[in-house]
Amino acid sequence: MSRSGNAHKDHDSGPAAYDATPYLPERGGLPTYRQAAADCRGCPLFEKATRTVFGQGTSSARIVLVGEQPGDQEDRRGEPFVGPAGRLLDKALAEAGIDRDTTYVTNAVKHFKFTLAEGGKRRIHKAPDLRELSACRPWLQAELDLIRPDVVVALGATAGKALLGRSFRVTRDRGTLIPLPDEDRRDEEAERWVVATLHPSAVLRSDDREAAYAGLVADLEVAARALKGR
Ligand code: URA
Ligand code: SF4
Repeated sequence: MSRSGNAHKDHDSGPAAYDATPYLPERGGLPTYRQAAADCRGCPLFEKATRTVFGQGTSSARIVLVGEQPGDQEDRRGEPFVGPAGRLLDKALAEAGIDRDTTYVTNAVKHFKFTLAEGGKRRIHKAPDLRELSACRPWLQAELDLIRPDVVVALGATAGKALLGRSFRVTRDRGTLIPLPDEDRRDEEAERWVVATLHPSAVLRSDDREAAYAGLVADLEVAARALKGR
């Protein structure tokens, strides 16, 4: 992942690397980072979106949930997972015995990427590409470094790739405790985990919604048990 900070390379010399690094503060807590992220121009997604949607929740959270990117409603309201996918997530969390108020919820990419449909009236979600994902990674890293949670839940393939690398496959890797990669680990003694699961939007789109939802809850229960084991 590029941390080279050459986001401002001359555009004539080829595509500049997308990178949020130049926008990160050198120190501070979550509020400082949130404030700085509001002005991030590390990739082109800030141009069309309304605002940066930074993570939300308590800095003492033992569990961090990572989605893909804000959706239409999140972009309007400036908060992660407050639309239909968020409502489903809230329900699944409660069923798995996790109180959302004790978590920190964020996204791998912090601006809404979309295409316009119906003559510009509707904004349709478009998946972020690897360049945008890698550009935005430093914000997620800062959140994880500041919070140092015991468990990180990757909601879907994009979050899984951001946390575990490109070879991540949600169908293969979901529902088990995967050690958080070394670069994320400062305290060598601590066992910190990633649990991957389906994205709540994938549950909403699923042909067998009930089974998909049950799978989401079961995976969240794996995360909940990893917490209780402490
Ligand atoms: N989907 C996501 O991945 N994140 C949100 O915040 C909302 C929908
Ligand atoms: Fe910065 Fe991430 Fe927004 Fe791109 S998506 S402008 S890297 S905050």
